[in-house]
Amino acid sequence: MTVTEKIGQMCQVNRDSGNLLQAVKAGRVGSVVNEVDVDKINHLQRLAVEESRLGIPLLTGRDVIHGFKTIFPIPLGQAASWNPSVVSEGARIAALEAAGAGINWTFAPMIDISRDPRWGRIAETLGEDPYLCKTLAVAMLDGFQGDDLAKPGAIAACAKHFAAYGASESGRDYNTVSVPEIELRNVYLPPFKAIADAGVATFMSSFSELNGIPATASEFLLTQVLRTEWQFNGLLVSDWESIPQLSIHGLTSSDKEAAAEAFNAGIDMEMASSAYAGHLETLLREGKISEADIDAKVRHILRLKFQLGLFENAYTDTADFPAVANAQHLDAARHAAVQSCVLLKNDNRLLPLAPDQANTIAVIGPLADDAQEQMGTWVFDGDSQYCQTPLQAIRKLCANTSITFSKALDYSRSKSRDGFDDALRIAHAADIVILFMGEEAILSGEAHCRANIDLPGIQQELIHEIAALGKPLVLVIMAGRPLTIGSIIDQVDAVLYAWHPGTMGGPAIADLLFGVEVPSGKLPVTFPKLVGQVPIYYAQKNTGKPAGPDTYVHIDDIAVNAPQTSFGMSSMHLDAGFAPLFPFGFGLSYTEFAYENIRTNSNQVTMGSTIQIQAEITNIGTFTAEEVVQLYIRDVVASVTRPTRELKGYKKVTLEPGQSKTVRFDIHTDELAFHNRNMELSAEPGLFHAWIGSDSTADLKTEFTLSD
Ligand code: BGC
Repeated sequence: MTVTEKIGQMCQVNRDSGNLLQAVKAGRVGSVVNEVDVDKINHLQRLAVEESRLGIPLLTGRDVIHGFKTIFPIPLGQAASWNPSVVSEGARIAALEAAGAGINWTFAPMIDISRDPRWGRIAETLGEDPYLCKTLAVAMLDGFQGDDLAKPGAIAACAKHFAAYGASESGRDYNTVSVPEIELRNVYLPPFKAIADAGVATFMSSFSELNGIPATASEFLLTQVLRTEWQFNGLLVSDWESIPQLSIHGLTSSDKEAAAEAFNAGIDMEMASSAYAGHLETLLREGKISEADIDAKVRHILRLKFQLGLFENAYTDTADFPAVANAQHLDAARHAAVQSCVLLKNDNRLLPLAPDQANTIAVIGPLADDAQEQMGTWVFDGDSQYCQTPLQAIRKLCANTSITFSKALDYSRSKSRDGFDDALRIAHAADIVILFMGEEAILSGEAHCRANIDLPGIQQELIHEIAALGKPLVLVIMAGRPLTIGSIIDQVDAVLYAWHPGTMGGPAIADLLFGVEVPSGKLPVTFPKLVGQVPIYYAQKNTGKPAGPDTYVHIDDIAVNAPQTSFGMSSMHLDAGFAPLFPFGFGLSYTEFAYENIRTNSNQVTMGSTIQIQAEITNIGTFTAEEVVQLYIRDVVASVTRPTRELKGYKKVTLEPGQSKTVRFDIHTDELAFHNRNMELSAEPGLFHAWIGSDSTADLKTEFTLSD
């Protein structure tokens, strides 16, 4: 290979770049991004394989984030399933449909930990917790890549965005990230480490800076951690134009300098921009980069092309693939949506409704019948013609009930009251009202951050007015993030949080509302009462002055002209308390579960062995249902402070009414390890508390001691 040809491999070019065809023929393109037309992709591959001097096939990349044509719930919704097989199956189908279009590389999973619902990209994450995120990330990886990348239907996955992109200040996208190394290693890196160990083919650097150095130029992240410590051998791609952006960050003063920084930090392939194409040859001549490094990078790229089997066959024959959005794919999407919805409130067991319980059901709201919006963010290829909306599904399911419908608001942000009268009229005439509210898809995702995370527009006003009619009121929320619903939750009887549920969101929601299915989703992220509580997450530190019911003082309980005193001096907000609206892991069912008899097989565990922690769960209600049994642990005293609780295991089990099961977690002491102040990963002897229960506030507790 000539140097030019090697550098060509390091360039990923957008499909509408002017001279793409010429560049491919000339061997100046290693990968094309965003082409999804199978004929065009085959044509590009033909130019690369048959008309370029070396005949090297192309990597064809695309954001296939939560489905290709069949859209699954947004990743945050999938995380609410707490079900690795659901996540894996969604990715497998996404890969199959995308591969049928000639795509061999997706930029997913996104495994940034985020504890800030203002950040629009929280929708693309798997939530706030490293353990939940890493287990689901590995499942998603398995769905995309399978056990052999060369098999038809497998595509290369990409762990992004390396690293700590989700910790942007104030939840504003691309914003500064300041995370101490110890927190980086204990919270933000574990999912990346887990997926690297599990064989993810590629990594993507983050747009943002981390502690003063943009991630795309971070030798620490890209070489020290990823290559040296973790021995990652795959391909590392920049984010979109993130190399020239190094100059906008103020780290470099030209594309040439930026190319040198990114190259020497470790980026193998440049996405979309052309700093590498324009400057690497000169930088090599000037001795600012080495040919040995070029070779190492090209090796990462070519190895992936070999692994994908592209040298044997770079072409896609659509006859080898099943139809997109076929019945089986739609059924999987429906199941995923069922598993993802979280029941947050159900006063007086209003839900499930019986299909024939009411003469008239009023369905109201801008998201009841909007096929496009229910698909959610970052869906470039999803096709709304395959979507079934909640209104359609409810009409089908309740064939003998009169279903009236009013959109009330044209879209979620609308401030026009023009539709209120109609909505109030049908609500007044109905026996039961179901509201479909939330955010349009465009209000979450990349660059779509919000400082106010209430229901947008005048939806709250509409809820107040409908609630005043006194009808049984169900609120279904579709959104790309936790919204602050503290001010309206008391107005409604039941709340089902559906995220953006994807193509089959309608039937899934209808089945849940009418008891064909029982909710089993659990929150993968804490729901604040007020945006001012953010960041609020369950794995908080205790602080020296932890808040609790005994220390809490509400702002309204402070006497007028009160002198400065130490009352309430604990870690809380006077106006919002110390607890969230809903904790991590929370989610109701139509049945109830009782937890008892937590115990360990021994009250001692020695370093290097495994302790068994188990509890008994009984379904004490009347529905057969699934429950996510969760294990939390606290390392009570350590050389650095540890969170008050950390998720260390979960299992989704099905229980019939009256049935009991013992659920056991085997915890190896390696899983108790954390990075200490010297950044060493080790578990420390001492006392541990453990809880098993249905959310992160579980109070069924035991303890054990770890000894050397
Ligand atoms: C996003 C990446 C994405 C890329 C390609 C960027 O703007 O940050 O996550 O993979 O675009 O579409």
